Amino acid sequence: MFQHRIAQQKNCKPLPKMICVFLLFVISLLSSQPVIAQSTRQTYIVHVNLPADQVPGESRDLETWYRSFLPEATANSEEPSRIRHRYRNVVTGFAAKLSPEDVKEMEKKEGFLHARPEKMYALKTTHSPNFLGLYQNLGSWPESDYGKGVIIGVLDSGITPGHPSFDDEGVPPPPARWKGKCELKGTACNNKLIGARNFARDDPGPPIDHDGHGTHTASTAAGNFVSGANVFGQANGVASGLSPLAHLAIYKVCSEEGCYESDILAAFDAAIEDGVNLLSISIGGISAPFYEDGIALGAFSAMEKGILVSCSANNDGPNYFSLENEAPWILTVGASTIDRKIVATALLGNQEEYDGQSLYQIHDFPATLLPLINAGSQGNKADEFCAPGSLNDIDVKGKVVLCVRGGGIARIAKGQTVKDAGGAAMILMNDKPDAYDTLADAHVLPAAHVSYADGEKIRAYINSTSNPKATILFKGTVIGDKTAPMVASYSSRGPSLASPLILKPDIIGPGSSILAAWPKPVDNTTNVKATFNMISGTSMACPHLSGIAALIKSVHPDWSPAMIKSAIMTSATQTNLNNSLILDQRLLPADIFATGAGHVNPPRALDPGLVYDIKTRDYISYLCYMYTENQVAIIVNRKINCGGSEYKGVPGPQLNYPSFAIQLGYGSQTYPRTVTNVGDAKSSYYVQIENVPGVDVTVEPKVLAFSKVNQKKTYTVSFSRQDFTANGSYVQGSIAWISVKHIVRIPVSVHLVL
Ligand SMILES: *[C@@H]1O[C@H](CO)[C@@H](O)[C@H](O)[C@H]1NC(C)=O
Ligand SMILES: *[C@@H]1O[C@H](CO)[C@@H](O)[C@H](O)[C@H]1NC(C)=O
Ligand SMILES: *[C@@H]1O[C@H](CO)[C@@H](O)[C@H](O)[C@H]1NC(C)=O
Ligand SMILES: *[C@@H]1O[C@H](CO)[C@@H](O)[C@H](O)[C@H]1NC(C)=O
Repeated sequence: MFQHRIAQQKNCKPLPKMICVFLLFVISLLSSQPVIAQSTRQTYIVHVNLPADQVPGESRDLETWYRSFLPEATANSEEPSRIRHRYRNVVTGFAAKLSPEDVKEMEKKEGFLHARPEKMYALKTTHSPNFLGLYQNLGSWPESDYGKGVIIGVLDSGITPGHPSFDDEGVPPPPARWKGKCELKGTACNNKLIGARNFARDDPGPPIDHDGHGTHTASTAAGNFVSGANVFGQANGVASGLSPLAHLAIYKVCSEEGCYESDILAAFDAAIEDGVNLLSISIGGISAPFYEDGIALGAFSAMEKGILVSCSANNDGPNYFSLENEAPWILTVGASTIDRKIVATALLGNQEEYDGQSLYQIHDFPATLLPLINAGSQGNKADEFCAPGSLNDIDVKGKVVLCVRGGGIARIAKGQTVKDAGGAAMILMNDKPDAYDTLADAHVLPAAHVSYADGEKIRAYINSTSNPKATILFKGTVIGDKTAPMVASYSSRGPSLASPLILKPDIIGPGSSILAAWPKPVDNTTNVKATFNMISGTSMACPHLSGIAALIKSVHPDWSPAMIKSAIMTSATQTNLNNSLILDQRLLPADIFATGAGHVNPPRALDPGLVYDIKTRDYISYLCYMYTENQVAIIVNRKINCGGSEYKGVPGPQLNYPSFAIQLGYGSQTYPRTVTNVGDAKSSYYVQIENVPGVDVTVEPKVLAFSKVNQKKTYTVSFSRQDFTANGSYVQGSIAWISVKHIVRIPVSVHLVL
């Protein structure tokens, strides 16, 4: 929608949403706003230092202190308080409506640190547990107690109370430390849905989900078991989240307008106090320095309190440098396919068949061939994207219309265009970048989403005959696609812009055509009248990882966020069901900037053998290397002496992160890593180095022998170039520690520079 989006690929691709909302905004300014002479006010996030005598955490005098920064005239006037939020945990400061002049005045005051206008963020089964190796009443899943006792906070568009996914059968009462609130009416909250609060300023009232996104993500993380879940009869089976007996605490921060940054920070503030164990955030924006990124700020404070924050990587792939939510204390999640397809096949007049996908399956659709028309070859090439209204001057009545993915028009909206113009069906072909990546959407008319290569063949067929014809054959749910998991084309890719020396994304998990809970009322924007819907995006991948993190937290309640994250990353898989390397949308091996550590493997993540831990102090040293002391203070919420002995600035690769992203020129580089034994007391690991082309990687020592649980061992890794021809390219490899029971692998990315 805006700069920051709900990371979902359902209706509007991020960019177009951004544009369309900006347009609405401009129009409303032009049409309805009187011309205001004074500068307009907007919401600023204001960071201040605490007065010298203030005990951190004591909120008694904070209100007076915060108000003292406001302009005198407003501090005393009758007008309603301009302070929108007073923060207690995530920011030392507040959010207030201010003009640039007000801010200039504030800057002169003692204790002022930083102020900037808030940004707008936006929102970007269930076979997937089985696909991930989790089976009801069998093995790791019951052993992990299905996430019992863990509280997952979800920042999103709200919740659909009463949905069967949020039934509390088998869920124990919340732990005693839970202090959250339920703003839903009556008995809507229960042992599953233990809290629900609304911070979305444009959508007051109870935190009801008017979009579907929040209901879908919450149920993916921790929806209870529901039998007979399906959409249009497809994908029928038992639906559940990844952590079906965990608790959910809902924080609504997004409305139709988007997700205001100051509201997101207020939700973080509350969630930390309420006592959540994990936060699942399928919301994002554009990459920014961490001191200007509300999600990075909130997640830092959460991490300090032992809360792991799992976030979507964004949907701007397959372009490189398209990530967001990339701070090292966040788990950054990319999206992959699962092995289920909902097959809809384009049958042409020449008898050729091209298998595609559509969730909307019509079993009485006639197999008779209908006239086929290419929307883009009727005079105006731009019409190929089937933008609303674009087919009004073309005769498509009763025909099958070929439309192309992309161009800023949502996939389902293209079908609506065809339907509105009287078309009978749509063949949706990929644009070139999306290549072989097709999705099962709830289209509003008979449709088949086919690959770019197949689309090209269909175009050629249309050119080859004066009387092209086609129809759609609906073949239903097919399980067992051997190319799965494949990196979704839309899944954002590294390297990280905000911090190039930390490898991102961290991990990939199921995000394409994911079945999960959906608000019950008829949804007019998609063809869904069910209580479940299938949508796609890194938004859908993030709550898979949040649910898996909850399983780990349930088994290892004392593990830090960094340990949980390490367990997930070092146990990830690099191969697909065909035992080949995981592919990207071009069906070529996906690179490290698409997969991070690889595809999540929950049974192995529950028993990782070794973990890499990172303490708050280490992150602060890393921040001291990146930023000024004032910028560090904005993130850490206290004054830090970066020159002192406690926080010697260290570059990214020095952080005990379970991956490497280095820049290597003439000199060699050596970094330490420390692993903690969380497997058997007596265990021994030997190192296995996967070749990094053109780079010599040496690890010392080559064997790590442990005699105790929680024992730590440090090793060093040295990198040096073997030749000095390449300049600017990236190469990749890995370092793995191998024991009888475990493979503990970290990926390595080297940027060759000169
Ligand atoms: C089909 O014909 C159009 C113009 O007649 C041409 O631009 C296009 O490249 C052709 N497409 C294929 C796939 O042959
Ligand atoms: C599976 O792998 C084999 C050989 O490694 C290859 O020939 C085949 O095309 C692959 N199949 C799929 C569906 O990727
Ligand atoms: C949605 O559909 C219902 C039933 O068809 C209709 O009454 C309602 O006006 C529609 N709402 C919108 C926003 O189009
Ligand atoms: C390497 O590439 C960088 C960036 O393009 C350039 O500035 C530098 O001069 C190059 N170095 C050599 C030795 O070619």
